[in-house]
Amino acid sequence: MGTKGREILKELGIDLKELIEKLNKAFADEWLAYYQYWIGAKVAKGMPREAVVAELLQHAADELRHAGMVADRIIQLGGTPLLEPKKWYDFSNCGYDAPVDPDVRKLLEQNIKGEQCAIGVYKSLIDYTKDKDPVTYDIALQILQDEITHEEDLENIKEDIQIMLKKMK
Ligand SMILES: [Fe+2]
Ligand SMILES: [Fe+2]
Repeated sequence: MGTKGREILKELGIDLKELIEKLNKAFADEWLAYYQYWIGAKVAKGMPREAVVAELLQHAADELRHAGMVADRIIQLGGTPLLEPKKWYDFSNCGYDAPVDPDVRKLLEQNIKGEQCAIGVYKSLIDYTKDKDPVTYDIALQILQDEITHEEDLENIKEDIQIMLKKMK
């Protein structure tokens, strides 16, 4: 986006520096979420391992795609996406939950918590940009829809495991 686009945002009351900061925070969240899913898929143990691993890998790919969407928007706004991975922890809203316990049920719990946090982050970005920055609003809305689906997918597997365990009793 050229300077005209940025000028319009300023006129509409968007503090560009603040918006870029918020986007960089979401960007850090996406990378940490990506890695949490990716490494979780590697170490996962327990039934049904294959279904959980497939789901975690799918989510990892989505989070990486989200990181790309957010980075592109930061650049359009004239900002710079975080250049150093060590900054991810400083900027992150949702943090990182290491999968120290590889039990699939524990992984599901950790990632559900992460998705709930991500939903809050994008909801607040939507509120922040509503009627002011339709481009960022649209990106945040698309990502929010994915995060809601992610949470639901994980909840569904959790439910299946509970049903399976009940049957085994
Ligand atoms: Fe994401
Ligand atoms: Fe997600």
